[in-house]
Amino acid sequence: MKTTNSELFSALCARIPGGVNSPFRAFQAVGGTPPVLVRGQGAHVWDVEGKEYLDFCCAWGPLMLGHSHPDLVAAGRLALEEGSVFGASTPWELEFVEAITSAFPSMEKVRLVNSGAEAVASALRVARGASGKPRIVKFEGCYHGHVECLDSVGLEAEELGGALALGASPGCAAETIIAHFNNLDSVSRILEKHHHEVAAVIVEPIPGSMAVTRPEPDFLGGLRKLCDEFQVLLIFDEVLSGCRVARGGAQELFGIRPDLTCLGKALAGGMPVGAYGGKTELMDHVAPLGKVYQAGTFCGNPLTVRCGTANLRLLAEPGVYAKLAVETDFLVSSLAELDPNLQVVAYPGMFGLYFAPGQVRSHKDLEQVDLARYRSFYHRLLKRGIYLPPSSLDAAGLSLAHTRQDLERFVQVVREGLS
Ligand SMILES: Cc1ncc(COP(=O)(O)O)c(C=O)c1O
Repeated sequence: MKTTNSELFSALCARIPGGVNSPFRAFQAVGGTPPVLVRGQGAHVWDVEGKEYLDFCCAWGPLMLGHSHPDLVAAGRLALEEGSVFGASTPWELEFVEAITSAFPSMEKVRLVNSGAEAVASALRVARGASGKPRIVKFEGCYHGHVECLDSVGLEAEELGGALALGASPGCAAETIIAHFNNLDSVSRILEKHHHEVAAVIVEPIPGSMAVTRPEPDFLGGLRKLCDEFQVLLIFDEVLSGCRVARGGAQELFGIRPDLTCLGKALAGGMPVGAYGGKTELMDHVAPLGKVYQAGTFCGNPLTVRCGTANLRLLAEPGVYAKLAVETDFLVSSLAELDPNLQVVAYPGMFGLYFAPGQVRSHKDLEQVDLARYRSFYHRLLKRGIYLPPSSLDAAGLSLAHTRQDLERFVQVVREGLS
């Protein structure tokens, strides 16, 4: 029986590429052996050696209520007892999508899928199918999951050493046009030239994989105007920000109505989920009503959907996001004064923590981020029982399970970790 992190991780490496089922978990950005986790409760996780950590990774986004919330456990247990998948319509899908459309009024109709990437790929297909145009504009540094035409070009490909990710279809690169976040001129130049062949502009309204980047005040509104002017669809990828920065995501926070929205992560409290939706006239292109095909055996399965409804019910309680905002503000103000180079950029429920002389505004500023300093800082914190995302460029999470005491401890450990 293997009982240490290193024994287990080596055994995992023998059978799973890199020992992980998603690359960032492998600690390549920070080095060392990742702890192998066996339990989570509230804001805490435990590794196989019995060491406890305060969890600020929150599974990279989903855990707004922390681990194993009793309401979700009860909903999941009932679904397992009564049938976890039927491959047929159920009343629970209705409850769940009604909770989604109530939080996101721009999503008049919704399709449920199993991951954020699936939601994005499906939304792109709707955009192309409805507009009859093939190309997509994306922003450098915005992450949209494992979607071939988006993750095989630009920065993502360069990180793997080429202009096109190895194994990706060359046709994909030709479909995608890359613009620059917080730079409306870059978008208007592209749309002036290519609007007749661009189906949609897809954006992460609050990028969470280039160190949590603030959209400048006129950026998202400007995008909406440009898309209207050039008759191109606007897609908000709110897989990370949805139900996190506000119940209705960044579109609620900034008051912008996209044509299509992609959700995932925090929607179902830790169950695998994705959803895409938008205007009825667009969503009615989806099969069987229309000719845009999208399907899946597990789409809308009762286990996910019943847990998801329990999750959204709790998130709809009065004062939830106000409390999250207060705790996030406490965290930011306490951390901001510790070191002039420690940048803390936060929205309720998510924050970026990195070392740089100033805040990142676009992918170009990533050059200034001190990745080496984060590596040693990360391990000092991990040793003291703080589990952050193992990459300074990815958003950390704050859940409703984190108490003020947890945050004070975090600030104290960061203070020690800096010195
Ligand atoms: C903004 C954004 N979109 C899409 C995805 C992909 O979601 P999933 O990992 O569930 O496929 C992610 C995942 O990190 C994300 O942050």
